[in-house]
Amino acid sequence: MKICVIGAGYVGLVTSLAFAKINNKVICVEKDIEKVEKLNNGIPTIYENGLGELLNECLSSNNILFTNDISESVKNSDIIFLAVGTPQKMNWDVDMTQVHKVINQISNYIDSYKVIVNKSTVPVGTQKEISHLIIKNGVSTKNFDVVSNPEFLKEGKAIDDFFNADRIVIGCNSLKAKNIMKKLYASFNSKLIFTTPETAELIKYASNAFLATKISFINELANLCNKVGADIETVSYAMGLDKRISPLFLRAGIGFGGSCFPKDTRGLVKTAKKYGCDFKIVKSAIDVNEAQRMLPVKFLLAKYKEIKGKIISILGLTFKPNTDDIRESPSLYIIDALLNRGAKVKCYDPKVSIGVKDMFPNIEYCENLYDSLIDSYCAIICTEWDEFKSIDFSKVNTLMKYPMIIDGRNILNLNDIKKHNIYYISIGRSNIDNI
Ligand code: UDX
Repeated sequence: MKICVIGAGYVGLVTSLAFAKINNKVICVEKDIEKVEKLNNGIPTIYENGLGELLNECLSSNNILFTNDISESVKNSDIIFLAVGTPQKMNWDVDMTQVHKVINQISNYIDSYKVIVNKSTVPVGTQKEISHLIIKNGVSTKNFDVVSNPEFLKEGKAIDDFFNADRIVIGCNSLKAKNIMKKLYASFNSKLIFTTPETAELIKYASNAFLATKISFINELANLCNKVGADIETVSYAMGLDKRISPLFLRAGIGFGGSCFPKDTRGLVKTAKKYGCDFKIVKSAIDVNEAQRMLPVKFLLAKYKEIKGKIISILGLTFKPNTDDIRESPSLYIIDALLNRGAKVKCYDPKVSIGVKDMFPNIEYCENLYDSLIDSYCAIICTEWDEFKSIDFSKVNTLMKYPMIIDGRNILNLNDIKKHNIYYISIGRSNIDNI
């Protein structure tokens, strides 16, 4: 089929390449010409497992083209995916600017029947809203249908998640559009759910908000474990054996980050409020998460009354491992809090430092883990990168001013720690501290 994907970000790029891989003709429209050039030359613009190989495979089979020309791309396509950003506004509203801008643009080029598919995460009611916008722009109702097809891609596993989705959700009102979407996804072995657009839009928010709530639930329990000396990993393991609970997304730590959970939980609360529903549980999950990421600072201040002038090491900047994405990463909030208290920050992340340098120009970016520990009074593990799991504790003792580790992702082995004279704090594990 002839597909146009608008937006070459995490979702748009993976969507474009996945459909190209199964022999559709895909044009991916991206406004950033530099990105267009890189992608047409086989250079990935995001860090995603397997993306480079998939990009070059699709380029050599001639099934994918990147461009910044939206007109021809829309005219030459039957299905148009919107995969543009829907960031969160300060008042928690979903910022639909990019979606509206693209809809107004493509309206000029709909000269035959098109299925317009919303892949971006958008508030309930968006399908109706953009249908009206397209009609207002003078497009005949015969020439389009708008469909909701939310994505459930986890960064770092997005390609696998696309091809092996637990479910593919499609919200549409027209049989014509339904048949086209059925044909598009015919070769997928995931459960295909057809429903109304509002239901599809809500399924996306509901799924993300539930996962985020699950994380905040286990984090609250972890905080209680810290107080009563129970072990959160055993609690989580035993809970997860109950198939109704499942062990997934039950890992305690310093909370969730990323471009989705923080934004989507707030977006859902705001949408619900608009319809007179007070989403107390999701609101609490947000509050718990915002407090959880400040835990390392709390532990640090309990140890050192004064951290002004002290070097503190931040291990891991990304919101999770195997990605280069720092959006809403807990580490950013921790760095900000440390700087506000006059601490000096040295950080190391195996994958990223670009986006952070603009945010925090006056912190030290180290080339490796051990440089970041030199003269440091505490190392805070914010991301569970594999290389941190095998940290050399003897170096911790020799390099650091004081061998203190706050393990925000509970990744270090308690028995190994016991063998070294390290003041160690983790999140809810039956703690050992050698004061
Ligand atoms: C999430 C959803 O999983 C995905 O379905 C949706 O399409 C997009 O948002 P993503 O944000 O890429 O995917 O990352 P995910 O793996 O879900 O982790 C989100 C955050 O939760 C990370 O900061 C991670 O560290 C944290 N997390 C995850 C926990 O703290 N504990 C867990 O048990 C799992």
